[in-house]
Amino acid sequence: MKFEEPAGQNLFDRAKIVGKSTPRIDGPLKVSGRAPYAYERHDVAPNQAYGWIVGSAIAKGRITAMNLADARRAPGVLGIVAATEHKPVGTSRFNHAPLFGGTEIAHYHQAIAVVVAETFEQARAAAGLIRTEYADGEGSFDLAKVAPGAPLASEKLPDYNRLGDFQAAFASAPVTVDQRYTTPDEAHAMMEPFATIAAWEGDALTIWTSNQMVAWSKRALASILGMPADKIRVDSPYVGGGFGGKLFIRADAVMAALAAKAVNRPVKLAMQRPLMFNNSTHRPATIQRVRLGAGRDGRITAIAHENWSGNITGEDGENATLQTPKLYTGANRLLENRTAQLDLPEGNAMRAPGEAPGHMALEVAMDELAEALGMDPVELRIVNDAKGNLPGEPEMKISDRNLERCLRTGAERFGWSARKAAPAQMREGRKLVGLGVAAGYRAAPTQKSAARVSLGADGTIAVETDMTDIGTGSYTIIAQTAAEAMGVPLNRVRVDLGDSLSPVSAGSGGQWGAASSTAGVYAACVNLRRMIGEKLGFDGDAATFANGHATLGEQSHALSDAGALSATGEMEFGAFQKEYDIGTYAAHFAEVAVDAYTGETSIRRMLSVCDAGRIINPLSARSQVIGAMVMAAGATLTEDLHVDKRFGYFANHDLASYEVPVHADIPSQECIFLDTLDPMISPLKAKGVGELGICGPGAAIANAVYNATGIRMRDYPLTLDKYLDRLPAIA
Ligand code: MOS
Repeated sequence: MKFEEPAGQNLFDRAKIVGKSTPRIDGPLKVSGRAPYAYERHDVAPNQAYGWIVGSAIAKGRITAMNLADARRAPGVLGIVAATEHKPVGTSRFNHAPLFGGTEIAHYHQAIAVVVAETFEQARAAAGLIRTEYADGEGSFDLAKVAPGAPLASEKLPDYNRLGDFQAAFASAPVTVDQRYTTPDEAHAMMEPFATIAAWEGDALTIWTSNQMVAWSKRALASILGMPADKIRVDSPYVGGGFGGKLFIRADAVMAALAAKAVNRPVKLAMQRPLMFNNSTHRPATIQRVRLGAGRDGRITAIAHENWSGNITGEDGENATLQTPKLYTGANRLLENRTAQLDLPEGNAMRAPGEAPGHMALEVAMDELAEALGMDPVELRIVNDAKGNLPGEPEMKISDRNLERCLRTGAERFGWSARKAAPAQMREGRKLVGLGVAAGYRAAPTQKSAARVSLGADGTIAVETDMTDIGTGSYTIIAQTAAEAMGVPLNRVRVDLGDSLSPVSAGSGGQWGAASSTAGVYAACVNLRRMIGEKLGFDGDAATFANGHATLGEQSHALSDAGALSATGEMEFGAFQKEYDIGTYAAHFAEVAVDAYTGETSIRRMLSVCDAGRIINPLSARSQVIGAMVMAAGATLTEDLHVDKRFGYFANHDLASYEVPVHADIPSQECIFLDTLDPMISPLKAKGVGELGICGPGAAIANAVYNATGIRMRDYPLTLDKYLDRLPAIA
C-alpha cells in the first residue's frame, strides 16, 4: 500500500481503541519476569556455554603478544577466540571501528578475545589469566585541541544553512548574544546490556539478541561475518532500552557468533557493564557557538549556530545545528557543522542525535537573548516561531505545527506568570528557586514498514512483524491498530515482534517507529479485510469491521466464518511527503531549587507540552516523554563521560561513576499532548514522541538554574563544582 496523498477522514477518526490510554499488553509478562530478554533465553538452544569478552587495555596501537596458555588450561574452558589467532572480521555500513579487529587497536576496550567456558564464573576467571602485550600508538583524544582545525562535515549542506548576510546583520543588530557552550560525551547507559545467544546449524546462524533494528542488523552481521544474509536469523522480541546504542550490531553479537562456531555449541554472553561505555558507541561531545542578533521588538534578524564535534570516523559527528533552522525565523543565517578526527570509541546515534545537545545550547542562548531584550522568554519564542513557512525553504510547506499553542498552554498550566524575570529573586529558606522554559523540535520521519496479520479460525487476530519494542510500547500500539482495523477487542489480538523471519518493519529509531510500524500493520489489515470479503462474498474495502463482525448493508458475518486467513502488507510512504516539513514540537518547563549552602540542585517540577499529531496510546507516549525528560535532566546535571586525554578512554565506565538520574529524582513530571492530527504523516495521522521528549527539557532546567541563582553556566553538566563559589550569599 502506498501513502500517496494526505490522509482524509478514515476509521481512525472514529477510533475506539487507537488514541485511548491502554496499559501495555506485555506489561504482565514484564512485571512477572516472564518476558524473556536476550540473556534469559535458556530454552531456545540446548547446552549453552558462557562467553566473556576481553577488551583492549590501550586506545591506540597494536597487540604484540597474547599469552593464552594459562587461560586455556583453566577449569571449564571450552575455547578462546583471540585477536592474535583469528583474522579480523569484516565491517558494515553501520559501524566504522572494527568489532573484532585482529591485532590493530582502534579504540579502548575494543574486543580482543572471547573466552568460552561451561559456566559464567569459569569464563570470567579464565579471561583474567590472559596476558596481553601492546605497542602503544599515538592517538588524538582532545576535542578542544583539534576542533579549530576540523573540516566541515562531509554531508551535503542544505542551502538553508546560509541565508542573507549574517555578518552584516549581526553587526548591525541592536541586541546580540554571542556565547559558546559545551556538551560532554554521553553514554546510552541502557538498563539491559548488549547480550546475545548465538547458535549455528551447519552454515546457518541464529542470534537471540537485544537490538532495535532487526533487518539492518541481519545485513550488517552478514557483511561482518562474510556470509549470506539469508543464512542469518535475528530475534529480538524484548529490549531493555537502547536509545540508539542498539541500532546496530555490536561486539556481543559478533563475539557470540565467533565463539559458538569455535566451540561448536550455542554461546551466550552479555557485555560486561564496565566494557559497555568504551566498547560500544556514545554521543560525541560538542562545542557550540551561538550568535543571535535581534531588533528591540525581539525579532531575530541574524542567527548563527556553529558546531564542533569529533569521531573516530572523521565524519558523522554530533550535529547540534539541526533544530536551529526549524525552530526560528531569521532572515540572515549561518549554520556550520565540523567534525574532527578523534581516536575515542566510535560516536553514533543517541536519542535525538544532534538535536538533544543542540537544544541545550540554542535554547539557553534564547534565554540569554530574552534577558538582554528584557522580554519574556515565552514571548520571544512565539515572536520568532517559524509558523507558515521555513525561511530558506520556500518550496517546503509545514504539515502541522502548533509550537505557539504548546508554549501558551504550558505557560498557563505551569504557572509561568509566577516567575520573576530577574534571577535569584525567589527564595524558600536556604533554597534558591527558579523557573525555566525551552522550545523543542524534532523531525517526524517515516520508513516503509511491513507486517503479517492473520485471522484465526476462532476469530482472533495475530500480528507478526520484525518491529521492535525497546520499552516504547510498540506491542500495545500495534495491537491497538490491528484491533481497530479488524474490529475486534484488544484482548483478541496477539503480537509477535522482533523476529527476522517476520516481514520487515521500520524498526525502532529516529522517532519513526510508532508512525511507520502502525501504518504497516494497517496496510496488512486492509489486505486481510479484502481477503475476508472475498472469502465471504462482500467488498472488504466497503465493509465496516466492528464487534468481531464485518458488516456491509444487510450482510453481516462473524470474522470466524472466514476461517483461518493470513495477509501481509507494507506501507510505503510517497514522495509527496518530501514537500512538507513534518515535525514534532514541544514547550518544556522546569522548576529547580538550588541549595544556597551546598549548591545541590534538585528538580521540583517538569512539564512538557507536546504537539505530535494523534497520540496512539497516551499512556505509553507519556512514559516516553517523561522518560526522555529524566534523560534530559541527566544530560544537564549529571551525565559526563570523562575523557582521559593521556590514555584515550572514558574513565567513568560503569553506572557507579556515570550518573544517570531516575524518575524518583523528580517528584513531579507532567506531559500534555495537544489534540492535533497530522494528515501528512500516515493514515493514523500520528507522529512519534520518543525523541521530542529530550529536545529542550535540558535547556529548560539550565535556564531555571540561572533564574534561581543568577549564575549562567554554559559547560554541561551543571555540576556544583562549577558554581559553588559563586552562589549568592543568603545569610
Ligand atoms: Mo534513535 S538515536 O535513532 O534510537
